[in-house]
Amino acid sequence: MNKTIIITGASSGIGKATAESLISTGANLVLASRKIEKIQKFAEKYPDSVLLHKTDVTKKDDVDALVEAAKQRFGSVDVLINNAGLGSFRELQMADTNEWDTMIDTNIKGVLYCFNAVLPHMITQEKGHIINIASVAAHDVFPNAVVYCATKHAVLAISKGIRLEFQDKIKVTTISPGAVNTGFLENTLSTEEDKEERREYFKEGLTPDVIAQNIRFAIEQPDEVAISEIIVRPQR
Ligand SMILES: NC(=O)c1ccc[n+]([C@@H]2O[C@H](COP(=O)([O-])OP(=O)(O)OC[C@H]3O[C@@H](n4cnc5c(N)ncnc54)[C@H](OP(=O)(O)O)[C@@H]3O)[C@@H](O)[C@H]2O)c1
Repeated sequence: MNKTIIITGASSGIGKATAESLISTGANLVLASRKIEKIQKFAEKYPDSVLLHKTDVTKKDDVDALVEAAKQRFGSVDVLINNAGLGSFRELQMADTNEWDTMIDTNIKGVLYCFNAVLPHMITQEKGHIINIASVAAHDVFPNAVVYCATKHAVLAISKGIRLEFQDKIKVTTISPGAVNTGFLENTLSTEEDKEERREYFKEGLTPDVIAQNIRFAIEQPDEVAISEIIVRPQR
């Protein structure tokens, strides 16, 4: 596959599994996250086709520099996978508004900044594919995760909006996983007690490879085929 693909949140979980799957397609990968050293070893195995870029998606300058670096190195950006994200499990009454800010900045503004940075390039090349990792929390609302659900509802709304405004040029795929056994739970902003309550639930979730396969499926479609929505849950 002769494509250049940016993956945000590539340092663990779904992002890392997606990089590991896509590398065998022959794509050029631009892997972005804050703790980029976590995938240094992987990148070193593929010096010609992997570029690492330390990026905080909540910082617009970082995101603009990421897209610029991708274009400089590989000449184009064909696919953007907006995967970076995080959550928290807490009752609304126990609000920590800093957590709300972090979720909104990462899950919503991060997606918008990345979209904004690739847009001019995708318009010029009259082609592009944006894959947004939402969640079943984009389709439903769960108690103790209301703000996370709101951010993922926003991701779904943004995806639909991009599809409507750019349907002749840009493909948009929203992938909404149920529980996936990644670093997600440990990386949530929740308390140890809240995490402990949910450990079993996430442990029995999908492997990140399953989500990677679905992402790859969407990318490998012919130009004239767009996969708009995928919801994938563990069969419990
Ligand atoms: N696991 C699940 O059950 C599940 C279910 C539905 C949807 N999702 C969604 O799937 C996506 C990936 O999550 P995961 O399950 O793979 O969890 P994960 O293992 O915790 O991975 C999250 C990734 O996001 C990155 N990230 C967080 N904040 C960032 C920031 N400000 N800038 C750049 N990167 C940032 C992290 O990298 P750094 O810390 O290195 O920056 C990490 O690579 C998220 O959007 C999540 O909401 C997960």
